[in-house]
Amino acid sequence: MVSVVERLKASGSFPRVKKAPLSRARERGVNAAAVDDSTARTGARIDIRQVSHWFGSGADRLQVLDNVDLAVAPGEFVALLGPSGCGKSTLLRLVAGLEQPSSGDILQDGAPITEPDPSRIVVFQDPTLYPWRRVWDNVALGLQAQGILARQRHRVDDALRRVGLESFARAFPHQLSGGMAQRVALARALVNEPRLLVLDEPLGKLDSLTRLAMQSDLVELWQRSRFSALLVTHDVEEALFLAQRVIVFSQRPARIAAELRVDLPYPRHRGDPRLTALRHQALRHLGLDASW
Ligand SMILES: Nc1ncnc2c1ncn2[C@@H]1O[C@H](COP(=O)(O)OP(=O)(O)OP(=O)(O)O)[C@@H](O)[C@H]1O
Ligand SMILES: [Mg+2]
Repeated sequence: MVSVVERLKASGSFPRVKKAPLSRARERGVNAAAVDDSTARTGARIDIRQVSHWFGSGADRLQVLDNVDLAVAPGEFVALLGPSGCGKSTLLRLVAGLEQPSSGDILQDGAPITEPDPSRIVVFQDPTLYPWRRVWDNVALGLQAQGILARQRHRVDDALRRVGLESFARAFPHQLSGGMAQRVALARALVNEPRLLVLDEPLGKLDSLTRLAMQSDLVELWQRSRFSALLVTHDVEEALFLAQRVIVFSQRPARIAAELRVDLPYPRHRGDPRLTALRHQALRHLGLDASW
C-alpha cells in the first residue's frame, strides 16, 4: 500500500525544493511551448539499467523485477502492460524515487534517482485530493510547498485551463465527478511542469466514455508540454492509443517480454487497422487468445 504521504511526496506536493529553470517558451506560456522546439528538450531521459527488485527476506523473499532494462528518451511516451501483480507499480515507485532497487541503476539525465523530486510527478488511480481545499488550492499545493506560489499564481490558473476546469477553480472535491477529480490530479501534476510524468493507471476508475475523452486529453497535454511519460495501464487499446512504445512484461518477477513500437502519428484513430494488428500482438504476448 502506498501511503497518502508517499503519494504527496511523489506528486511534488511536499516541500522538497529543487526547481529546474523554466525555459523561455514556458515563461511565455503553453501556446508558445507548442511552437518552440526548445521545449522538446524539457522531457527527462530515464535509464533503467538491469534493475531487479525483491521484497522481504529469507523464506518470505519475493522477487518482483528481474533484470529490467529500459530507456525512455526525452519527451517519449512509453506504456507498460503486464499481468496483475507482476511488478509494474513497483517499477514506477523505483523510478519516482520512493524506493531504491535491490540491484541495478535508475538514472534521470545520467544522474542516479535517489529520492522523490518535483521534476518527476506521479499520478495514481486515486486522485487523493484534500477534501477541505478548493480545486484551485489543491492544484496550488506543489507551488505552495516550494514557496513560490505568491509569484506563480498564474501557473495554477494555466494548469486548470489545460485540463478544462478553470470554471471549477472554487469548487470543493466533493462537488466534482470522478473524471473531473482526476483532471484536478492531472492539473496538480502539470502545475509543477514535470519533466517526467509517471502515470499508474490514472484513468482506471473512470467510466468508459470519460476514459476515452481523457485519453485524448492526455495526448494533447503531452504534445503541448513535451514531458516524458511512463504510463502503466491494463488497457491494451489505451496503451496503443497513447504511447510511442509499449512494453509488455511477463508474470512476476517482471521481465520485458516484448516491446512494440507504435509508429503512428497523433491524433490516432481508434479504428486504424495498424492499431488492431498491434493489439493482437500485445494480447498474444500477454498470453491471451488474440482471435477477438
Ligand atoms: N511494499 C511491499 N512489500 C511486499 N510486497 C510488495 C510490496 N509492494 C508490492 N509487493 C508485491 O510485489 C508484487 C508486485 O506488486 P505491484 O504492485 O508492483 O504489481 P502490479 O504489476 O502493479 O499489479 P497491478 O497490475 O495489480 O497493479 C505483488 O506480488 C505485491 O504483493
Ligand atoms: Mg499496480
